[in-house]
Amino acid sequence: MHIPTLIARKREGEELEAVEIECLINGYVTGEVPDYQMSAFAMAVFFQGMTPREIAALTGSMIRSGVVFQHPSGSPVVDKHSTGGIGDKVSLILAPLVAAAGCRVPMVSGRGLGITGGTLDKLESIPGFRVGISMEEAGELLEKNGLVMMGQTDRFCPADKKLYALRDVTGTVPSIALITASIMSKKMAESLEKLVLDVKWGSGAFMKTKEDARKLADEMAAVGAEMGVEVTAVLNEMSEPLGRTVGNALEVIESIECLNGGGPDDLRKIVLDLSEKIAGVSRGKLEELLDSGAARKKFDEMVISQGGALEDLGRLDEIHKAEVIREVFSASGGGVSRVDAGIIGQASLELGAGRAKAEDAVDFAVGIDRLVKIGEKISEGDLIARIHSRTEEAADLAMAQILAAIRVDPISE
Ligand code: URA
Repeated sequence: MHIPTLIARKREGEELEAVEIECLINGYVTGEVPDYQMSAFAMAVFFQGMTPREIAALTGSMIRSGVVFQHPSGSPVVDKHSTGGIGDKVSLILAPLVAAAGCRVPMVSGRGLGITGGTLDKLESIPGFRVGISMEEAGELLEKNGLVMMGQTDRFCPADKKLYALRDVTGTVPSIALITASIMSKKMAESLEKLVLDVKWGSGAFMKTKEDARKLADEMAAVGAEMGVEVTAVLNEMSEPLGRTVGNALEVIESIECLNGGGPDDLRKIVLDLSEKIAGVSRGKLEELLDSGAARKKFDEMVISQGGALEDLGRLDEIHKAEVIREVFSASGGGVSRVDAGIIGQASLELGAGRAKAEDAVDFAVGIDRLVKIGEKISEGDLIARIHSRTEEAADLAMAQILAAIRVDPISE
């Protein structure tokens, strides 16, 4: 196949055949198609988009580039995927909760990139926690505990792994076609029966508008349907951070509060909303599993099996203690009308909780907690956030960002 012609045809908006897409992807994985041709192709897709047939073909080729999970018969195999947001620690709670409800959850997650956090980074703030799990061990853990939370191995959708890294440095991440194929290839390779998609939109999400989020949700649901998986997509606004914490260890601490039956209302609500779509039990039962400690028990089982120690879970704040803890107070009283997720995500990233390049390390200790929520009534001088920083200078910058992100409107009598 003549790759330059294929790229040119896509550039002109032609629909490609499934067999052509398969050749391109196979060639890319073997190295026959170099990065420069693949990046030109990705840019052509970014501008021209892909038809549903092409997206399904691309997804299928990426799945076939590696191995897929083979589950023995048994309880339902389900999962959720979020397109990413600020303070989004839902996976840490949902996976054990749904496992406690009797399902198997083979959750393959990603790392944070840009302003959005990643489940793997959060889990790794638990000392010893291993996310690099082989497919064989993952299968064993799934049968033993009902859940495994792991990263993408070299054998799991390798075409996506390579293409995602390329997109990240060529300005081609925010393409609905490429995001759909990337996410759905990994989820379909988990060999699921049911999948719930949490598609975010707003200042703290990839998709800035609800319309784009709807398009992405529809494309992903269409690919799932084609592959015989029951997919439910839920659109959620990400204009304020989820819960009251942003940052790796801080988010694990808040997740554990939720797994103990507490935690912020918005976090508990979204966990229940999403779990309800896949768990096969009632919302009341899911609430009971959170409040009784059954979900927490599943989380603990996973932590032990994947190399963590239970005694560390209660002292993550001591293990990851930033040198500077700065309280931020409100200059006025009133109703909180804005806590901009995009700005808070940027502040957390600049404190060191996120990364600028895929190979950067993240700082587990830094971030923001005790954030106010939209709709809360506050008085002048009330605490509206707490910054965990390595230096006074970084805390100064974060404080300015937080004050710019939060708006308090006077309440008229
Ligand atoms: N997450 C993924 O796994 N892939 C994308 O393309 C975007 C977000």
